[in-house]
Amino acid sequence: MHCGELFLTLWVLIAESTSGEDCISRSHLNVVEGEPFYLKCCPSSSAQRNETATPQWYRSNESYKDAKLNLSTSPRIILHKDILEFWPVELEDQGSYTCNLGNNTQRWMINVTRRNKHSCFTEKQVKSKTVEVTKSLQITCNNSYYKALIHRTALYKNCKKISENSLSYSKPIWKNAEFKDQGYYSCVFSLLHNGKLYNITDTLNITILGERNDVIPVVLGPQLTRVEVELGKDVELNCSALLNENDYFYWSFWKEKGPDPNVHQDNKIRPWTSEGKTYASQILRIEKVTENNLNFLYNCTVVNEGTTDTKSFILLRKAGTADIPSHAFTGGMIAAIVVSMAVLCLAFVCVVYRVDLVLCYRHWMRRDETLTDGKTFDAFVSYLREYRPEHGEEYTFAVETLPTVLEKHFGYKLCIFERDVLPGGAVVDEIHSLIKKSRRLIIVLSKSYMSNEVRYELESGLHEALVERKIKIILIQFAPVGDFTFLPQSLKLLKLHRVLKWKAGESLSYNSRFWKNLLYLMPAKVIKPDRGGAEGLPVLAEVS
Ligand SMILES: *[C@@H]1O[C@H](CO)[C@@H](O)[C@H](O)[C@H]1NC(C)=O
Ligand SMILES: *[C@@H]1O[C@H](CO)[C@@H](O)[C@H](O)[C@H]1NC(C)=O
Ligand SMILES: *[C@@H]1O[C@H](CO)[C@@H](O)[C@H](O)[C@H]1NC(C)=O
Ligand SMILES: *[C@@H]1O[C@H](CO)[C@@H](O)[C@H](O)[C@H]1NC(C)=O
Ligand SMILES: *[C@@H]1O[C@H](CO)[C@@H](O)[C@H](O)[C@H]1NC(C)=O
Ligand SMILES: *[C@@H]1O[C@H](CO)[C@@H](O)[C@H](O)[C@H]1NC(C)=O
Ligand SMILES: *[C@@H]1O[C@H](CO)[C@@H](O)[C@H](O)[C@H]1NC(C)=O
Ligand SMILES: *[C@@H]1O[C@H](CO)[C@@H](O)[C@H](O)[C@H]1NC(C)=O
Ligand SMILES: *[C@@H]1O[C@H](CO)[C@@H](O)[C@H](O)[C@H]1NC(C)=O
Ligand SMILES: *[C@@H]1O[C@H](CO)[C@@H](O)[C@H](O)[C@H]1NC(C)=O
Repeated sequence: MHCGELFLTLWVLIAESTSGEDCISRSHLNVVEGEPFYLKCCPSSSAQRNETATPQWYRSNESYKDAKLNLSTSPRIILHKDILEFWPVELEDQGSYTCNLGNNTQRWMINVTRRNKHSCFTEKQVKSKTVEVTKSLQITCNNSYYKALIHRTALYKNCKKISENSLSYSKPIWKNAEFKDQGYYSCVFSLLHNGKLYNITDTLNITILGERNDVIPVVLGPQLTRVEVELGKDVELNCSALLNENDYFYWSFWKEKGPDPNVHQDNKIRPWTSEGKTYASQILRIEKVTENNLNFLYNCTVVNEGTTDTKSFILLRKAGTADIPSHAFTGGMIAAIVVSMAVLCLAFVCVVYRVDLVLCYRHWMRRDETLTDGKTFDAFVSYLREYRPEHGEEYTFAVETLPTVLEKHFGYKLCIFERDVLPGGAVVDEIHSLIKKSRRLIIVLSKSYMSNEVRYELESGLHEALVERKIKIILIQFAPVGDFTFLPQSLKLLKLHRVLKWKAGESLSYNSRFWKNLLYLMPAKVIKPDRGGAEGLPVLAEVS
C-alpha cells in the first residue's frame, strides 16, 4: 500500500485548500451551540475582487430586520479581516446574516442546535455517507480553516475514542469496508483561542451497504410459451425472473385501444432467493378467456440499467384431441393401428382357411348333424348314368372315386343309383324318396349330364333344395364346362362356393383342397373311417 504517499497527497490537497478561500457558499447552516464558527463571503467573481474593500455585515431575527451588526455589543463575535468569527456560537445567534461586498450580497440562514449533553455528537450535525461492503472506506479528520489553531485531534467511533494525536488532522482510516465498520465517526478538534479551549466536532454517519447484487436480469423460461386454453375458463400466466432488487419487472398487455378488461396484473411481485440470487414471479390473470385473448403476445419484461429481457406468452385454443397428452395420443393411435391390422390379418386368415378352420372345429367338437334328422343317406349322387366311353372318367369318378373317398375314408353314406336302387319298380318314385332321405345332392356335372334320365332327379332335388330347403346341393364340375346355358335357371342361383372343380392332377390326395371343400359342404359327422389306405395315398391309384 502506498498509504504514506496517499496521505501526503491528501495533506498537500488540504494545505492547498487552506491557501484558497474557505468561504461558505451553503445558504443553510446548522451549528451546535458552544462551538467556534465563522462566516466568510464568497466573491461573486475574481474580476470584481477588491482586496481593499471590507464587507458590511447585517443580521435579521424575529425582532430586527437587516440591522447592521454592532460588533461592540458582543465580545464573542469578532471580525477577523473580512471573516465574521463566533467564539463560540450561541443559541441567540440564530438568524439570517448578510454580507455586502461592493455590489455582491450573500445571505445565510444559521440554525443553532442545542448541544446533546448525553452524546459526544449532536445528531442534527451528522453527515451521512454510505459505503458498499469490500469497497474502500476512508475517514480523515481535517479542518482547513482552524488548522493553525488545532493542537489536538481525536477520532471517536460511536463515542468511543479510537485514535488521538496532537496534530491538526487524525491518522486516516483507509480500508476495505466491512459491516462492522458501520457507525458514527466523530472527529473532535481541540483548539485554543485567547487562552480558552474550544472543541469542534464533525460527525460522519457511515452506513455499510451489502454488496450490490449485479446480475444480468433474465426472464426464465422459453422465448415463447404457448398456453392452451378453453374459452370461458380463467387462466394465470406465471412469469419468473432472475433479477436485482431494484429492477423493473412487469407484464405488457396493452393493446392499441387499451388492455382487454378481463386481463389483470397481480400487484404483488413475489420475491424469493436461492443460492444468494434474487428471483421474483408475478402473475397475469385472464378471467374467462375470450377470442380477443387468443393469438396475442403477452410479454413479461425485466429491466435494469442497460439490459432488458422479455419473454412472451401466447394463448391458443385447446384442440379437441389435445385433451389427451400427445404421447398418449400417438401411443393410442399406434395401438389402434396394430389392433386393427391384427384383426384384418385374422379376418384374412379366417377367410382363406375358412374350410380348414370349420373342419378343425367339427373335429375337435365332434359335431354330428346327422343323428337327429331321420335321414338315411348323407348324399345322393346324381351323375350321367348311361355309360359312354367318352365319359368314362366321369362315370368312374361318380361310381368309384367318390364312394371310395367319402365312404371308406371319411365314413359318409352315399346313395348311388346303380348300386343302391334295385332295378325295376317305379324309378321316379324311388328317386324322389331317396332324395328325400338324403342330406345333400351331389351333382357330378358334365356337358352331357342333361339328359332325360337325370332331368327328373335334378328337378326333384332342386325342388327339395330351393322350395322346401331340406337338401343342399353340391355341384362338382368334373370336366371344364364353358357354357352353363344348358343348366336350369334355378341351378345358376347356387352360391359359387357350392360349386367344386375337380382338377385331375391336384385333387388326387385326401388332403387336397377339393376333398376339404367337399367335406366342408358335406354335413358334419363324427368320422369312423373305414380306412382302406394310408393318408395321402393317391385316390385314383387305389381306385384304378
Ligand atoms: C476598492 O474599494 C475601495 C474602498 O471601498 C475603493 O476606494 C476602490 O476604488 C476600489 N477599487 C476597485 C478596483 O474597485
Ligand atoms: C454599538 O453599541 C454601543 C454600545 O451598545 C454603542 O455605544 C454604539 O453607538 C453602537 N454603534 C452603532 C454603530 O450602532
Ligand atoms: C435579535 O438580534 C438582536 C441584536 O441584533 C439581539 O439583541 C436579540 O436578542 C435577537 N433576538 C433574538 C430573538 O434572537
Ligand atoms: C456596481 O453596480 C453598479 C450599478 O448597478 C455599477 O455601475 C458598478 O460598476 C458596480 N460596481 C462593481 C464593482 O461591480
Ligand atoms: C432552522 O430553524 C428554523 C426555525 O427554528 C426552522 O424553521 C428551519 O427549518 C431550520 N432550518 C434548518 C435547515 O434546519
Ligand atoms: C445514520 O444512518 C443510518 C442508516 O442509514 C440511519 O438509520 C440513521 O438514522 C442515521 N443517523 C442519523 C443521526 O442520521
Ligand atoms: C477533509 O478535507 C477534505 C478536503 O478539504 C474534505 O472534503 C473532507 O470532508 C474533510 N474531512 C473531514 C472529516 O472533515
Ligand atoms: C473538548 O474535548 C475534550 C476531549 O477531546 C474534552 O476533554 C473537553 O472537555 C472538551 N471541551 C469542551 C469545552 O467541550
Ligand atoms: C410461479 O412460478 C414460480 C417458479 O417457477 C413458483 O415459485 C411460484 O410459486 C409460482 N407462482 C404461482 C402463483 O403459481
Ligand atoms: C411483445 O413483444 C413482441 C416482440 O418482442 C412485440 O411484437 C409485441 O408487440 C409485444 N407485445 C406487447 C403487448 O407489448
